[in-house]
Amino acid sequence: MDKKIEQLEQKIAEAHLGGGQRRIDSQHKKGKLTARERLHFLLDEGSFEETGMLVTHRSTEFGLEREKYLGDGVVTGYGTINGRLVYVFSQDFTVFGGSLSETHAEKICKVMDLAVQNGAPLIGLNDSGGARIQEGVVSLGGYADIFYRNVKASGVIPQISAIMGPCAGGAVYSPAMTDFIFMVENTSYMFVTGPNVVKTVTHEEVTAEELGGANTHASKSGVTHFACANEVECINQIKQLVSFIPQNCEDLPPLNEYIISDETRTALNGIVPNNANQPYDMHEVINNVIDEDPGFQEVHKDFAENILVGFARIGGRSIGIVANQPAVLAGVLDIDSSTKAARFVRFCDAFNVPLLVFEDVPGFLPGTDQEWNAIISNGAKLLYAFSEATVPRVTVITRKAYGGAYDVMNSKHIGADMNFAWPSAEIAVMGAKGAAEIIFKKEIKEAKDPAAKLKEKEEEYIEHFANPYRAAERGYIDEVIKPEDTRMKLIRAFSMLENKVANLPRKKHGNIPL
Ligand code: HXC
Repeated sequence: MDKKIEQLEQKIAEAHLGGGQRRIDSQHKKGKLTARERLHFLLDEGSFEETGMLVTHRSTEFGLEREKYLGDGVVTGYGTINGRLVYVFSQDFTVFGGSLSETHAEKICKVMDLAVQNGAPLIGLNDSGGARIQEGVVSLGGYADIFYRNVKASGVIPQISAIMGPCAGGAVYSPAMTDFIFMVENTSYMFVTGPNVVKTVTHEEVTAEELGGANTHASKSGVTHFACANEVECINQIKQLVSFIPQNCEDLPPLNEYIISDETRTALNGIVPNNANQPYDMHEVINNVIDEDPGFQEVHKDFAENILVGFARIGGRSIGIVANQPAVLAGVLDIDSSTKAARFVRFCDAFNVPLLVFEDVPGFLPGTDQEWNAIISNGAKLLYAFSEATVPRVTVITRKAYGGAYDVMNSKHIGADMNFAWPSAEIAVMGAKGAAEIIFKKEIKEAKDPAAKLKEKEEEYIEHFANPYRAAERGYIDEVIKPEDTRMKLIRAFSMLENKVANLPRKKHGNIPL
């Protein structure tokens, strides 16, 4: 028996070495951790249980039968993060560049199936040269097996991808179909076709980092939700995200203990400027309303900054926040901000995370660029996403709620449960000046002093509509509240809504305007 145990130990030691010490050193020299080191940082100490450690590839092409590594380039299994079960795979770049073979794919599919069957999040750490070139179509089939499972698992369990090295060609499509992508600055990239192909086809000179690095995808394309300075920060951010979300679509997010004390926040009274055209930073509102610990985990921080989305806790309860940002483009809704927010709303709704909306929006962004690139269909995505969401939904209008954007931003009419407004709210079809110019056009034109007349009519319109009271009279606003009371009102509202039951009509699936 001792000999047999020794043999097993040898095999385990061999598997732990992956593609060998030389390649591990090379990985470290690039500033990257190995597949196993990443799992060590991600999971609770001693919690990792590995599956398929002894799997090897079956290929006999190009002399591959003489080159086999235990595990075949991916470490798979399950463990816990702060005591909660997660399934993981971590690609090992030291084995054939982490490339995906038939067996490598089978190992990933096995943990995906287990994750769905047992209702726990799947976290994939990607670091791969793509399809195992020597295996040809068998490898492509392996990718498709994973894609298919990504889609089946979507909305059932949270799926999180971290890109910690190359991720190119068709390989990008598995992370793209997961709920959140994390990338590491300078050591990871994602693109469908790399710089060489780009140069051949379009004659553009571009580096891998410029084409598909973390900052590019965090700010230009919006493909990644998080760009992290290094791998350890990336892993810590993943753990933080996991703390906000439930295990699966039938579970609720973890509730932290919270003892209600004096929740009045007088700082909120001074944030909205008296001049309606002056910007302010909506982060200040958010930070004064949410629990200090763990703070606001902003998603898509550098993309479409005119809207803010992210996770926080209020009274210990996990919530998803969507907020117009008056400090960027006056908080206007455009194509990118609509799709960014729509995707976030759909994630929260799929996984029972209540939604809190802060609204200060002057409307949709005008222009040929927006119209020709389909602000109609893209703006409709956000309208659709809010309208179909059945989680508890609360809105606070801090200032402007103009035009169609009033309807879209979680209004009472599209199913919000509680709608609050601050006394500074202006709920109207449009801004006072624009409105006066249209409805009093003739009077202004015929006046002795048209500028003075316009001013007078503008004041009249402000008096009439640039306030929350018309909407409150109709019941579209449940309560006009002092800013300083917002936190307490929200804690109570979300607590009141915690047993909300709302069902959509039976259907196969809706048809969101993609
Ligand atoms: C087999 C691969 C491999 C691959 C890398 N290796 N990619 N083996 N299949 N796809 C091996 C190398 O032979 C090398 O082996 C080791 O991994 C490390 O590779 P290096 O090139 O030395 O590393 P580096 O300089 O860091 O460059 C990494 C890389 C480069 C940029 C990823 O290796 C590369 O361009 N690889 C090919 C990428 C590619 O074209 N893949 C197919 C994409 S199409 P040794 O023995 O020296 O350690 C695709 C289709 C998916 O993926 C379709 C899904 C629908």
